[in-house]
Amino acid sequence: MRHLLSISDLSKDEAVLILDTAIEMARASDGPMKKLPTLRGRTIVNLFAEDSTRTRISFEAAAKRLSADVINFGAKGSSLSKGESLKDTALTLQAMGADAVIIRHGASGAPVRLADSAWMSGSVINAGDGTHEHPSQALLDAFTIRKHCTKSGGDLAGLRIGIVGDVLHSRVARSNVLLLSLLGANVTLIAPPTLLPFGVESWPVDISYDFDSVLPSLDAVMMLRVQQERMSDLFFPNAREYSRYFGLNRDRMLTMKPNSIVMHPGPMNRGLEITADVADSARSVIVEQVSNGVSVRMAILYLLLAGAPTQIGANS
Ligand code: NCD
Repeated sequence: MRHLLSISDLSKDEAVLILDTAIEMARASDGPMKKLPTLRGRTIVNLFAEDSTRTRISFEAAAKRLSADVINFGAKGSSLSKGESLKDTALTLQAMGADAVIIRHGASGAPVRLADSAWMSGSVINAGDGTHEHPSQALLDAFTIRKHCTKSGGDLAGLRIGIVGDVLHSRVARSNVLLLSLLGANVTLIAPPTLLPFGVESWPVDISYDFDSVLPSLDAVMMLRVQQERMSDLFFPNAREYSRYFGLNRDRMLTMKPNSIVMHPGPMNRGLEITADVADSARSVIVEQVSNGVSVRMAILYLLLAGAPTQIGANS
């Protein structure tokens, strides 16, 4: 059985294979035939127990471009809102013959639970679990960085990438730290101490509390959303103070290197972690991250489901 649960399940070669395959997928999507017949007859279920715009639509578009049948199913409007367990949901999906389940869940570890269970036999793809991981987002971020900051799909060795803000609550940050360091980049986390997780000293990253001193050396800066919905405590004095020290505004952006890029996984809090003029500037690749997401997710689905010779996540 083959799944994509965590970046830590991937070897460097497997990660590069996904990124290279995504280049082919992007090329195919730009051609006259938008739809490839590769997954015709396969059923893919989008199980989103937590809100999502980009990730859900992107996986749906990716599956449809590969000609799979897609069933969308969210917390609202399904029996999940009646408290149906993950087990009963999985048994139902199995009975319907799902070949893959793309799952987003508020509980860290829900995708692993599903993959390890005997409840269903299909592939499981983690589309974000609690504050744990979001591997497809990290892969699309790496794809975007590779496209802008390396010569023709090279590796990321030597690149300096900053991840800024609410690292504590961010599954995007966790997956990106693992993937970008696997690919050879130098990652610096930039955040107030209150928004860094316990044990961060053992992560393969540098840490800084001073955005202004690090920003001019970065090739890519990834701004994180301040995840107010996951905050039960006061992590910073007020929004203005946060923006002043950790927000990306025009003046700060002017200190960046030529050709460096501004990223954000979305959804953005415009005016908090990033100003509107920066988000809409020429340096911003935020909208492009979304379109790259479709190519990367096509590559993931293709490698997991189409029986390609090299398997990804084979040891998971
Ligand atoms: C992220 C998520 O849901 O983890 N968004 C996304 O998938 N594009 C980040 C966030 O919610 O801030």
